[in-house]
Amino acid sequence: MAQTSESWGSRVGLILAMAGNAVGLGNFLRFPVQAVQNGGGTFIIPYLVSFLLMGIPLLWVEWAMGRFGGRYGDHSTPFILDNMTHKRFWKYFGVFGIFTNMGVMAYYTYIESWTLTYTFKAMSGGFIGTTLESLDSTFNSYVDLGSGGLNLPVLAFLSFVLTLVINIAILSRGLSAGVEKVAKIAMPVLIGFGAFLAIMSWTTGSTGRCDDCSTYVGLNYLWNPDFSTLANPKIWLAAAGQIFFTLSVGMGTIHCYSSYVRQKDDIALNAMSAGWMNLFVEVVLGSAVVVPIAVGYLGLDWVVDNVGFMMAFKTMPFLFDQWGPILSVLAGVAWFGLLFFAGITSSLAMGTPWMGFVEDEFGWSKKKGALLLGLAIFIMGLPTIFFFEKGVFDDYDYWTGTVSLVIFALAEVILFAWVFGMDKGWEEITAGADMKVPKIYRPIIKYITPLFIGIIFLTSLFKPLNGEFSDWSTAFSSLFSGHGWPWANDSIINQVFHLNTGVHWMADGKLTDMFYVDMSRVFLILCFFGLIYMVRVASNLRKKQAAS
Ligand code: PHE
Repeated sequence: MAQTSESWGSRVGLILAMAGNAVGLGNFLRFPVQAVQNGGGTFIIPYLVSFLLMGIPLLWVEWAMGRFGGRYGDHSTPFILDNMTHKRFWKYFGVFGIFTNMGVMAYYTYIESWTLTYTFKAMSGGFIGTTLESLDSTFNSYVDLGSGGLNLPVLAFLSFVLTLVINIAILSRGLSAGVEKVAKIAMPVLIGFGAFLAIMSWTTGSTGRCDDCSTYVGLNYLWNPDFSTLANPKIWLAAAGQIFFTLSVGMGTIHCYSSYVRQKDDIALNAMSAGWMNLFVEVVLGSAVVVPIAVGYLGLDWVVDNVGFMMAFKTMPFLFDQWGPILSVLAGVAWFGLLFFAGITSSLAMGTPWMGFVEDEFGWSKKKGALLLGLAIFIMGLPTIFFFEKGVFDDYDYWTGTVSLVIFALAEVILFAWVFGMDKGWEEITAGADMKVPKIYRPIIKYITPLFIGIIFLTSLFKPLNGEFSDWSTAFSSLFSGHGWPWANDSIINQVFHLNTGVHWMADGKLTDMFYVDMSRVFLILCFFGLIYMVRVASNLRKKQAAS
């Protein structure tokens, strides 16, 4: 085991890097979509409750686990968990904390590369005078395999490779000279761009394009809470899922960043600073752009019917163009530039658990570690590029960006509070703290958070069709009257077994989308086992070293 003395350059740098890790495409693309799909203002209450009862506890738990790991020279979850428990199972379970990052990084870097391409296009005035139809076809042909001999979306592919190379180059410079430096530039620029767009949006108001075409109607839709739907499990699931993704908890990324904090330094206040900064960027800036501006020009009904994260690419440039050619260019560059910066500070974070792991265990140099990571992400990213239109991209997001996080978070909080023990755990959280950690969080971490995540997990496993409150009782009566359980398409069980549709890999003599999706799952599982194998080799190496 190579002992690294690497650590963060400064406290501001650490907080910005952590905030950069959390602030990402999730804040600007995923949040508004989730909010609109879940009734606008009704979303915000479950979201805040999830933040307080699940997000904050997990932040503290993960930061504490990370700093604890760093004490023993461990910077990735397999050996951090091992050190906390000394049980073989947890060492292998810790693979999630590397795998999830790599799986997400594969498809995330692809989206990041779109934002890079679109930044250049906006800069060159390529969206002046654009229409919704032309934006739609521009994007579709951008990711389309094309009918040409190559069968490759050439520009999208090159841009993906370029984005990956930029990530790898930064990662190979290490934490303080690479990741931290980038965060110190990217975060302020991003917030500046976001503030500019937010002010444009807030001052646009009514445009007169339709009866309710006003940015205020959009803001009001997102901000007016409706308590009557609080009992809707579907909204709770979506809100909790958003908290996971946006805070990057349940991933292993925070553990890695925190393992480079000096032992005497605070983590409690740092965790809060980064967490609340992310919340601000998400709730204030993230809800200021896509939804209100789109409502301003296209009306609320249009937005509710058409919302999706593709709006960033297929709709926003058209809306900016309504502000005239100069603002069209400025807003386009601000928007796609903001997304690129938000994206890159997150994808860098996803690369660090692997970097820490191979450096600790195999003594690889940063260059070697980064190059091999690049190769792995390149290979893992290919299915999402080639089979984008077959749903492989969404499937990666479902498994590595949604389900894995819940599984890992549930396990780690149980490990922390019950196996490692809450006495030691609380000591780890509060040691060196620059704030008074509210005592109420002790029982919350021990009982409420695991229960909360457990319910989320069970609900996602068995989610019935539509997933509203009444659908659960309908589902039970269907079950008891012998008609079976009406699975929601996105329930985990149905996703695994394809109960609603049956397994169809061929139709009309052609391979179906399901075939591509299932094969990419097999591929992801193989990647997971590849990492398990690496942990096994590392563990044998450690034993050998201890014996000699
Ligand atoms: N939190 C990031 C976002 O909101 C995504 C992310 C996931 C970052 C995993 C790091 C690790 O986009």
